[in-house]
Amino acid sequence: MASKVGMKFFKRTIRDVPLEGQTVLLRADYNVPLNEDGSVRDDFRIRASLPTVRYLLKHGCKVVIIAHLGRPESRDPKLSLEPAAQRLAELLGEPVRFVDRTIGEKARMAVKRAPKRSVIVLENLRFHKEEEANDEKFAKELAKTSGARYFVQDGFGVVHRDHASTAAITLQLPSVAGLLLEKEYVSIVSAMKHPKRPLVAVMGGAKVSDKIQVVDELVEKADRILIGGAMANTFFEEAGKPVGKSKFEDDQKETIKSIYRAVQAKENVKADQFIVLPTDVAVAVEVTPDAKRTVEAVEEVKSGDIILDIGDETAKAYSKILEFAGTVIWNGTLGYAELPAFAKGSEAVAQALADSPTVDSIVGGGDTADFVIHWDKKHGDSFSHVSTGGGASLELMAGQKLPGVEHLLDA
Ligand code: 3PG
Repeated sequence: MASKVGMKFFKRTIRDVPLEGQTVLLRADYNVPLNEDGSVRDDFRIRASLPTVRYLLKHGCKVVIIAHLGRPESRDPKLSLEPAAQRLAELLGEPVRFVDRTIGEKARMAVKRAPKRSVIVLENLRFHKEEEANDEKFAKELAKTSGARYFVQDGFGVVHRDHASTAAITLQLPSVAGLLLEKEYVSIVSAMKHPKRPLVAVMGGAKVSDKIQVVDELVEKADRILIGGAMANTFFEEAGKPVGKSKFEDDQKETIKSIYRAVQAKENVKADQFIVLPTDVAVAVEVTPDAKRTVEAVEEVKSGDIILDIGDETAKAYSKILEFAGTVIWNGTLGYAELPAFAKGSEAVAQALADSPTVDSIVGGGDTADFVIHWDKKHGDSFSHVSTGGGASLELMAGQKLPGVEHLLDA
């Protein structure tokens, strides 16, 4: 793991504005998984917000946090941000005031009464349908309720959405980026645009169709793409290889063909060395916690087999390629990583990246981030960057503009 060399961020950040002692409205992404009892199951996104919250506290700010949880239609007590606020207080080691309102007099008074240099978390933005409608009046209410001098966007996971708290709010207050947003943007964009070569992409997960824009971009920018997960089955099917009862997408033939056409159009590139597919796979006859892992050559997959991981020979070959990579972008686990027997391919990739002192390793969000955070004894620090964004990191890798970033003040 190597740390990223800083590319200059094109937006103003909290370091660029005089926010000493000011009230600041901070958008975070606290869309975190909860346990049955309502407590936070995974606090990765809350931890990732700490540098910005701490920076603002260090500068004597009153920090009013807004965030969303889930996709409620209206107020839903099961999707309250109170557990996230509690977890934030534990991680910060400081009190956090939770207010069960997002806008209005009660919330406004609670913010007003809070001391200077304090943290307040307001209730789930999505309890108001105006949030997703990018409603201007709602954004105005948010600004008024918080009494803020600045808006800080730090919810990287949600900046691909055009919502009141990512778009309309920026018309109400001078708006700058937080430290997480800056780090996410710089890490992902510099890996895509100015990678240390060779740039190797590892693509897994369920579907080619979910990631096609990123794959297209990587065909152009990367030196090699290693494929795994159920995504590999779709490539096998297209190549006429047996996949047994495995999951694959049967409507992606044209997509796969167009990927290969783009690869063939590259100079000095052999398609099968550029798009690298597993040579062996781990299969089972059922997907159950005690399903037996059997490794077989790709050509030998039987009609009753379900492919659930890359095989051991492939894991070794992929690790070897990663050993010599300058930059690695990894998106999607390589097998059914919820079951330990089929997490071995993903573990091998994680280990290869963690062991390399020089590689810039960028791990895409969602399931891949969950996987490495739980696998890694250093909680993600074994990699250069583990993204908190799912859709947002995919869109950024695909070279798309993110509304929540574009609207911020230029540097
Ligand atoms: C995420 O979990 O990807 C972000 O928090 C965005 O949530 P959404 O997909 O419900 O907009």
